[in-house]
Amino acid sequence: MPTISPKTPTTIAIVSQKGGSGKTTLAVHLATRAAVAKYESCVIDTDPQATAAAWGDWRGDFLPVVVTAPPARLARTIESAKKNGVDFVVIDTPPHADAAAREAIKVADIVLVPTKPRAFDLHALEPIADLVSFAQKPAYVVLNAVPSGATVLTADARTTAKEMGLEICPIELGDRAAFHRSSAKGETAAEIKPDSKAAKEIEALWKWLNKQLD
Ligand SMILES: Nc1ncnc2c1ncn2[C@@H]1O[C@H](COP(=O)(O)OP(=O)(O)O)[C@@H](O)[C@H]1O
Ligand SMILES: [Mg+2]
Repeated sequence: MPTISPKTPTTIAIVSQKGGSGKTTLAVHLATRAAVAKYESCVIDTDPQATAAAWGDWRGDFLPVVVTAPPARLARTIESAKKNGVDFVVIDTPPHADAAAREAIKVADIVLVPTKPRAFDLHALEPIADLVSFAQKPAYVVLNAVPSGATVLTADARTTAKEMGLEICPIELGDRAAFHRSSAKGETAAEIKPDSKAAKEIEALWKWLNKQLD
């Protein structure tokens, strides 16, 4: 039996007070990529809408495991997941900058904040910027659903985020059908279309994330 070397347990929080910014998409894609890298990977869904949990139901018996937990149970849930061998946790959160986001940020090693590169969405980053700065956690804005050729839009978004004191992930995710088509089936972009731009973007994001965690 080949042994898998133990990996450093990692917890990633995905937060943003805007619905539809790509939290759940990012959570399930990163957790699945971690499973491919032989992590015992788990998504903890703290959103009462339970979209990640529904994705897990559609997915069936494949990694990552998806469990739900109310924010007040988050730390305990992670603790027991780790006792059960889980070494990569991605926390999906509801669209608020309240207790759920705060608890997720508190237990995270790194925080990712997906946002569309649009004025109203960027404006909504402010409360999240306050939370991460208070918690003193490394946090990165991930520009998501970026329309192709939107260089001015993304440059403006980067400036706005920087003005709020937020770091920006150099990898952007485009507006790609493979993201929503795959998620709707309990799969990921790489699983339905390995050579898609969406799959390549997640791969680049995964590599970048590993560098940050090193
Ligand atoms: N980069 C993207 N390209 C295309 N569709 C996307 C992208 N990111 C998210 N979506 C779709 O947008 C909708 C909202 O995304 P979701 O991840 O559920 O956001 P949130 O969890 O922040 O509410 C979903 O239907 C999802 O499939
Ligand atoms: Mg969601």
